[in-house]
Amino acid sequence: MRNPLYCGRQNTTAARKVNLIKSIFGKTPRIAESAYISDAAVIIGDVEIGEESSVWPCAVIRGDDGPIRIGREVHIQDNSVVHCGNGGLEIGTKVNIGHGVVVHCRRIGNNVLIANNATILDDVEIGNFCMVAAGAVVPPRTKVPDYSFVVGVPAEIKPEIHGQRLEYLKEAGAHYTWKAKEYKKAGV
Ligand SMILES: CC(C)(COP(=O)(O)OP(=O)(O)OC[C@H]1O[C@@H](n2cnc3c(N)ncnc32)[C@H](O)[C@@H]1OP(=O)(O)O)[C@@H](O)C(=O)NCCC(=O)NCCS
Repeated sequence: MRNPLYCGRQNTTAARKVNLIKSIFGKTPRIAESAYISDAAVIIGDVEIGEESSVWPCAVIRGDDGPIRIGREVHIQDNSVVHCGNGGLEIGTKVNIGHGVVVHCRRIGNNVLIANNATILDDVEIGNFCMVAAGAVVPPRTKVPDYSFVVGVPAEIKPEIHGQRLEYLKEAGAHYTWKAKEYKKAGV
């Protein structure tokens, strides 16, 4: 008997595969071979994504106003939105962007964590080895120095990255780099 709770056509050959990687204004996303991109991620326009990076379900990266350059081992998790003004946005290497984050800034350095539901506003620049706590709102044009702990609404910048936090940031991408490979292998 048909399961009344089952109304999808998941994993059948009839299921329609939708491509959510799109060109606009003559620009097409360029994505490294080893990156993992969920089928449910949306990537549009002038976007580059580096080796071993990942983009998780329902994340949106929209390079229509300015170029978005994303380095190696950058993980953009579910429901996050990455967009920028015409000055563009650069994200370095080993960066973890958690769930439901809004990244709308100019630069994020290397070895950075942007925790769940944080919001990074226009023209913000975040240095290397920084941690932005969950829910923080970083006001427009803020310059966050290297080794900062950023917390609250509006965000306060504290020079508190050392010890365990620093060790964590050195390996910030490692777990997701591993997990992304598993997802890619499994075709999920
Ligand atoms: C940023 C974070 C990692 C810091 O963790 P931590 O180094 O263990 O920090 P602690 O929990 O010891 O907190 C240190 C201080 O910051 C405060 N604090 C921590 N996170 C905060 C937050 N999100 N908002 C406001 N204050 C926060 C704590 O209350 C504490 O204040 P106190 O010194 O006055 O007591 C953690 O708070 C966080 O945001 N975790 C979410 C991680 C995440 O989103 N990962 C991505 C998904 S996989």
